[in-house]
Amino acid sequence: MENRLQSLKNEALEALSAVSGQQSLEEFRVKFLGRKGLLSSVMKELSQAPKEDRPRLGQLANTVKKEVEALFLEKKEDIAAGEQAHAAEAVDLSLPGRFLPCGKLHPVTQVMEEICAVFEGMGFAVAEGPDVETDYYNFEALNIPKHHPARDMHDTFYVSDSLLLRTHTSPMQARIMENQEPPLRYIAPGKVYRCDSDITHTPMFHQVEGFLVDRSVSFADLKGVLTTFTRRIFKGDLPLRFRPSFFPFTEPSAEVDIACVICQGAGCRVCKRTGWLEILGAGLIDPEVMKMVGYDPDEFSGFAFGLGVERIAMLKYGIDDIRLYYENDLRFLHQF
Ligand code: DAH
Repeated sequence: MENRLQSLKNEALEALSAVSGQQSLEEFRVKFLGRKGLLSSVMKELSQAPKEDRPRLGQLANTVKKEVEALFLEKKEDIAAGEQAHAAEAVDLSLPGRFLPCGKLHPVTQVMEEICAVFEGMGFAVAEGPDVETDYYNFEALNIPKHHPARDMHDTFYVSDSLLLRTHTSPMQARIMENQEPPLRYIAPGKVYRCDSDITHTPMFHQVEGFLVDRSVSFADLKGVLTTFTRRIFKGDLPLRFRPSFFPFTEPSAEVDIACVICQGAGCRVCKRTGWLEILGAGLIDPEVMKMVGYDPDEFSGFAFGLGVERIAMLKYGIDDIRLYYENDLRFLHQF
């Protein structure tokens, strides 16, 4: 009996070391530790052993059983850990890659950058000024004194009596001119604010101001610069039209139209059947503005223009509601 227990133990250890997976482990369990397994049947034979030997043999049999059970559990854990590690390693290289959502520049930012690049290509420098502006630069220095009717056009957000949210980027003309001597060639892009909201107006929008000051600058120079600009931005040879207009800071002043980018001048819904689209305001810098920054208007002359970035972007992309730009709808924004 003692020998049988000993050899059963050896046999079990040998068999266990050959076990390599869940299936052979289960076979081992049934064969050695199961209710009808080898260890159980040896235990049953104990009752036939001589009475005085039974306690010793019983103890021995229990020890062997406990040893085999302990080793079995150890093996079971090893196998489970091995399978987990294997599962983690298994990468299916044929699966498609994970999609990482990627942000883009806002369409208004893209068009703003394009506009600036076109003017930089013509030698204009870029300057930015404050959104919170003084009444002086926004109005007075641009020949719009207090109580001037032109102030009504601006729907100004006031911060205090003398501070406001700039209603246009034109104040940058005065800010730059009063600190530098001609010749000057600048554009000033940025946000502007007006208390206004409908399908073509938002309370905040973007403008690019541009101006050039030198000796004997003429309206022809302005026309040349704006023609080059519209050709590059709208990628075509669309005719320009200069309509007489009025701005307090330019004389003469003009509103500039391009032939409708949708119908090429034939007349459609976008251009309200006129064949023309207004894209900017411009003119020769008023001698009064020159004098206020300390320039001699008999020595120097210059032109200036101001354009709305959202308006250009709407025409470029055929968008008819400006509010789409500011609703943060990714389905809209992802198209650019
Ligand atoms: N500041 C004008 C506006 O916001 C636009 C403008 C018109 C700017 C004529 C100019 C200009 O520089 O010459 O309506």
